[in-house]
Amino acid sequence: MSADKNTALIILAAGRGTRMNSELPKVLHPLGGTPLVVHAMDSAALAEPTRTIIVAGHGADAVTKAVQEYDETTEVVLQEEQLGTGHAVMQAREALAGFDGNVLVLFGDTPFISKTTIEALLEARTHNDVVLLGMDCVDPKRYGRLITDGDSLERVVEYKDAAPFERRITLCNGGIVAADAKLLFELLDAVSNDNASGEYYLPDVVQLARQRGLNAGFVTCEESETQGINTRADLAIAEKLFQDMKRAEVMDNGVTLTAPETVFFCYDTYIGGDTLIEPNVIFGPGVTVENDAHIRAFSHLEGCHVSRGAQVGPYARLRPGAELAEFTRIGNFVEVKNAQILEGAKVNHLSYIGDAEIGKGTNIGAGTITCNYDGVMKHKTTIGEGAFIGSNTMLVAPVTIGDEAMTASGSVITSDVEAGALAVARARQDVKPGLARRLMDKLKATKAKLDGKV
Ligand code: UD1
Ligand code: CA
Repeated sequence: MSADKNTALIILAAGRGTRMNSELPKVLHPLGGTPLVVHAMDSAALAEPTRTIIVAGHGADAVTKAVQEYDETTEVVLQEEQLGTGHAVMQAREALAGFDGNVLVLFGDTPFISKTTIEALLEARTHNDVVLLGMDCVDPKRYGRLITDGDSLERVVEYKDAAPFERRITLCNGGIVAADAKLLFELLDAVSNDNASGEYYLPDVVQLARQRGLNAGFVTCEESETQGINTRADLAIAEKLFQDMKRAEVMDNGVTLTAPETVFFCYDTYIGGDTLIEPNVIFGPGVTVENDAHIRAFSHLEGCHVSRGAQVGPYARLRPGAELAEFTRIGNFVEVKNAQILEGAKVNHLSYIGDAEIGKGTNIGAGTITCNYDGVMKHKTTIGEGAFIGSNTMLVAPVTIGDEAMTASGSVITSDVEAGALAVARARQDVKPGLARRLMDKLKATKAKLDGKV
C-alpha cells in the first residue's frame, strides 16, 4: 500500500458462526481476554487505517458496541443476507463512497495474522493492483487454490469449483485482499454468483483484474496465521496458541516464568523486565507490572498496576483500580480493589482493601477489612503514612486515619482517628478468676443428671 495513500480496513464478520452453538456472535468470543474481531483490527494496525468498517450480520448491535469500545471511530455496516465474501465487501461500498485510497480486507474470525504479513502485503501492493495472501499447505483441505504464473496471480479457484488438477495445487488462499478502493468496487460489480456455491466470491476480483491487463500478486505466510475459528474446539486451540506466543514474548522481554504453561495472560498484559512470576498466576485485562516485581503463586490480577519491587501473593487478588506503589507487599488471601497502596505499605494477610488509600510505609494487620459498602453506596477509607492498623480492624467507611496513628486489634473504627492517636474501639477485657472451672463443673453436673447417672 503506497505510503502516501489512505487505507480503509474492511473486516468481514457477518457469518453466523453456527458451529459455535452460541448466542454470542462468533467474532465476539474472547481470545486472550478480547474479542476475536479486535485481534483482526489489531493485526491491521500496522497499515494505519484511516477508516475501519466491520461488515456485520448476526448480532450487529453487540458487534458495534464491542468494536467501538476498542476504537470509537469504527464503522459497522450490515450484510442482511450472507451471499459470499464478495457480496460482504460490497456492503462497505456506500460507506466508502468518495474514499480515495487502498482497501485491506481481513476476516473477523482470523486472529493470528502477523504484523510481518501485513507489512509484506503493503509492500507487494506498491507494485500490484491487487494482492492476495497465499499460504503453502501440506494439507490444502477445502481452501481456495491460487493459480499463478511465476510471480503473477492469474485467478483463484474455490475448492468446490476446482478441477482435480487444480485441487492438487498446495498454494492456497489465506483470505486477505489488498487493492485500490475504487478499483476493488468496480471489479466486485462484475463478480457473478455463477459457481458451485451460488455465492459472490471476493477472490474472483483477481481474474477480472487480469482480464483488464492489471497486475495481481500474492505474498505468502504460514498456514497457522490464517487459522480461522469455527468451533469452541478451534477457540480452545487458538487460546493455547495465543498463550504460548504471549509467554514467549514475555520471557523474551526478560521476565522469569517458573512454570510458563500455568500462567495465563491477556492480549494487553505488560510485564517489566526481571519480574518473577511463580506458577498458576492469571492476568485479566488491563494489567501492567513494572520491573523487578514478584508475583507469587495462585494470584489473580485484573485492571491493576504493580510498581517496581512490589510483591504480590501467594493467593492474592488484585481487582480493577488496585495500584501498588514501589516496594509494597500484598500477601496471602488479600483482596485489593480501587485502592492506592503507597510506597512501602504492607497488607500481608487475609484482608479486604476496597475504595481506599493506604499511606507510605503503613502496615495493615491481618484480617483488616475496609467496610466500604453500606448496601447502597461505596465509601472511601483514607489512611495516612506510617500508620499501624491492628489485626482484625473493621474500618467503617467513610473514615480517615491520620499519619502514624494506630488502631487496637479487633477495633470497629466508625469515626476519624487523628494523626499520632491510638484508637481502641472494642469492649474492655474483664477477667473473672476461677469462673471458667466453676462453670464447667456446673455444666457437667447438669449433663450427668440428664443422662440419669445420678
Ligand atoms: C474463504 C475463501 C477461500 C479461502 C478461505 C481461507 C472466498 C470465496 N473463499 O473461504 O478461498 O481459502 O476463505 O480461510 O472468499 N463472510 C461474511 N459474509 C458472507 C460470507 C462470509 O461476512 O456473506 C465472512 C465470514 O464470517 C468469515 C469470512 O467472511 O469471517 C470468510 O468466510 P468463509 O465462509 O469462512 O469463507 P471460506 O469458505 O472459508
Ligand atoms: Ca473460513
